Formats: sequence, C-alpha cells, structure tokens
Amino acid sequence: MRFAGRSVIITGATGGLGRATSTRFHNEGANVALVDLSKNELNTFSQSLDSGSGNVITIEADVSKDADVKNYIDKTMEAFGHVDTLFNNAGIEGNISSLEEYDEDIFDRVMQVNIKGVWLGMRNCADAMRKSGGGAIINTASAAGLMATPSLIAYGASKHAVIGMTKSASIELAPAGIRVNAVCPGVINTRMMRSIEEQTIPDNPEEYVKAVSEKTPLGRYGEAAEVASLVAFLASDEATYITGSSYVIDGGLLNA
Ligand SMILES: NC(=O)c1ccc[n+]([C@@H]2O[C@H](COP(=O)([O-])OP(=O)(O)OC[C@H]3O[C@@H](n4cnc5c(N)ncnc54)[C@H](O)[C@@H]3O)[C@@H](O)[C@H]2O)c1
Repeated sequence: MRFAGRSVIITGATGGLGRATSTRFHNEGANVALVDLSKNELNTFSQSLDSGSGNVITIEADVSKDADVKNYIDKTMEAFGHVDTLFNNAGIEGNISSLEEYDEDIFDRVMQVNIKGVWLGMRNCADAMRKSGGGAIINTASAAGLMATPSLIAYGASKHAVIGMTKSASIELAPAGIRVNAVCPGVINTRMMRSIEEQTIPDNPEEYVKAVSEKTPLGRYGEAAEVASLVAFLASDEATYITGSSYVIDGGLLNA
C-alpha cells in the first residue's frame, strides 16, 4: 500500500494509460481523482474500480480550459484535502498527414490539449502541492518527443514540448518540494495506436502492428499496465531524488 492516504489526480483517466494507472494507484491505496471529457465514461469506469468506499471521485474536464483545470484541483482538495500526485496524461494524436497538408485546426487542437493542458495542470496544482509540503507531477510525453515523427508533425512537436516543460518546471518547483518528471512511452496497446494504425494503413492496420513489433527489440507493443508501473515508481518515495527526467519505456524501439 505505497500510496495509502495519498491523493492522486489522473487526467485522460478513461483512456488506455489512464485506466491502467488509475487502477494501479487505487490498488495501492490512493485516493484517486479521475479526470476526462465524458462524464458517462468516467462514471462507468469509476464504478468498475470501486464500489463506494469514497476514495474515487470523477471530474468532467477539458484539460485545455483553465477553469476546468482549476475545478478539478478544487474538487480534489474538497474531497481529499490535499493533492500529492498529478498524472498529467490526457493527450490526442491529431491526424496522419504530410506537414504540407496538415489541417490547421487539428494542429491548434493538438497544441491546446498536449501542451497547454500539461502546463495548466502543473500551474494549477503547484499551489495545492506546496501547501501539503510537496508532491510529484508526472507528465506523459512520448518516444515521439525524442525522435522524428514524419506525418505526425503536431503530435511530435507537442511531445518535444512536454519534455522541455518538464525540465523547466522541475527547476521552478523544486524549492516547493515538487518533483516533475515525464514518461516517454513507445507504442502501447491502446485506442491511440488503433487510430494511428488505421490512419496509416487503412486497408490492413495489422500490417502496421506487425512491422512496428518486428522493429521493436522486445518484439511487441507495450501494455498500459507496464507504463503504470513506471508512473507509480516516479510518484513513490522510491523516487525522491528524481526530478526533471524523462523516462523512455519503449521495448528498445528508440535504439533500433
Ligand atoms: N498509446 C501509445 O502508444 C502512446 C505512446 C506514447 C505516448 N502516449 C500518450 O499517452 C497518453 C494517453 O494516451 P492513451 O494511449 O491512453 O490514449 P487514449 O486515447 O486511450 O487516451 C487518451 C485520453 O485522454 C482523454 N482526453 C483527450 N483530450 C482531452 C481533453 N481535452 N481533456 C481531458 N481529457 C482528454 C481522452 O478522452 C482519452 O480518455 C497521451 O498523452 C498520449 O499522447 C501514448
């Protein structure tokens, strides 16, 4: 029960990584605040996670809107009294297109959610964490934040930005006892990869899975639960001297 009595906010909580991480923190005793766009999906997921012990709350929010972000921090403070960890995880992939044909509105939306959403999360939880004597923020970047991502110009740019913001925030927030790190997953078995597979090879998305799995030294996609283990480690007291770092979890893909 590493997180007994701790309070953890998870954004993008009903997505693949969000569900696995919420489950992990909940199983390890944390009070969890689940944040996502759809109230219905949040309710269904929270019921599957917990049958009414009171240590799970759900908050409908668009992470790119400051008022929504303030609200999810306030609701968590009201319910649990403190915020110890923010898993700043909500993100979108945008579309697959050459940079010349990339849709401008989609480009803007990827920046709003993946960059501004992460900044607003850090900005609004800093004071709550400071009042509790510190905390841990884990931002979801991507292997796409460390490599070229042709046909995913906005997504790759946004994830490079998350790594940059993580470094800057770690310095600004260190005096308050707040550690800030990022995780950089490679290809993980969630809805987001289904979307990328289908957009890349619409006639045969399985071909994409096969090619990427073969290119990955460990020979397969990662599972969301494997990323959740890394996030839990970075949030835990086993990581008290780690800040400003970006952790690759990609089955070796970046080095292949
Ligand atoms: N799956 C992968 O291979 C992979 C690899 C590297 C990084 N990531 C990153 O992991 C994170 C989680 O992705 P996932 O794989 O679980 O995908 P997913 O699509 O299953 O989950 C994303 C979640 O974010 C939520 N979301 C999107 N926009 C939002 C907004 N404006 N406000 C609140 N919530 C919003 C969605 O509703 C969804 O529940 C993302 O940041 C993604 O970029 C995923």
